[in-house]
Amino acid sequence: MKDPRRFIKEKVEEIKGVEGKAVVGCSGGVDSTVSAVLASEALGEDLLAVYVDTGYMRKNETENIDNILEETGVNHVVIDAREEFYNAMEGVVDPEEKRKIIGNKFIEVFEKEAEKFDADYLVQGTIAPDWIESGDDNRDTIKSHHNVGGLPEEMGLKLIEPLKDLYKDEVREVARELGLSTAEKQPFPGPGLAIRVIGEATPERTEIVREACYIVESEIDKAVDSGEMESPWQYFAVLLPVKTVGVQGDKRAYGHTIAVRAVQSLDAMTASFSKIPPEIMARISTKITNEMKDQVNRVVYDITNKPPGTIEWE
Ligand code: XMP
Repeated sequence: MKDPRRFIKEKVEEIKGVEGKAVVGCSGGVDSTVSAVLASEALGEDLLAVYVDTGYMRKNETENIDNILEETGVNHVVIDAREEFYNAMEGVVDPEEKRKIIGNKFIEVFEKEAEKFDADYLVQGTIAPDWIESGDDNRDTIKSHHNVGGLPEEMGLKLIEPLKDLYKDEVREVARELGLSTAEKQPFPGPGLAIRVIGEATPERTEIVREACYIVESEIDKAVDSGEMESPWQYFAVLLPVKTVGVQGDKRAYGHTIAVRAVQSLDAMTASFSKIPPEIMARISTKITNEMKDQVNRVVYDITNKPPGTIEWE
């Protein structure tokens, strides 16, 4: 990107040209936050950012995004829809079905807010890789990314997509220019932790992956801050649907398995697994198995590149 400041000015002017009110679904990620801030600068109180707590968000995410929106003066609401999402996901194991159910539920919850606000427009944080991977006439659908398609058609809202030609690193430049603390945040998928629980994403299993993700993130962040390693592009935990045998004290244990995933990438289209120094791997493993000893007794590391793997496991 040549000039993020100019991009911001142009987009704000462009959005100012719309007549009426707009809503934006804010997930806490860099894309939706940048979109919300750009739209808010253009529309002021005529913009409403809606954050939906689906129950599949990371630890502390809801409080963090509430604070950021508060600080940046974006008109916003936080909706606690955890129960509703968990109920809708009961018995669901297929990854694409998870995406569909979460996408549909999100529309349902979001639509209510949009109607209350009497919105005419929908601002979306879609970026280039989202629509490329979600497929168009010429491409196969690899995964149906839920933030593409569905929403605008069903809601009868006109669409504003300020970031649709940008790649992730360009969105980060814009975020930095806007002074957003989310600028360096790693990407987080729309369906959230639901696709990091392989098999049924029950509240209990989600709680396990939420804690494991938190440990992986904090340990890697610490190692990056102290200069021990380069920051991966994305890093998280996945809860596998296998239990394995272990020992705890002098007793046989039978617990869950956590896979750690960390990749280097530029734009998510391709990725290579991060070569994390062994001492840091050891810290992650020890911390997970100590702090989560009643649940987890095995930690493995994913050494697959994309392709042939994908970054997420579902
Ligand atoms: P994959 O797993 O396809 O992921 O290599 C590429 C990037 O996209 C994110 N991802 C998603 N984002 N909805 C999203 O908004 C989704 O359904 C979805 N699936 C994957 C993933 O975290 C990675 O950054």
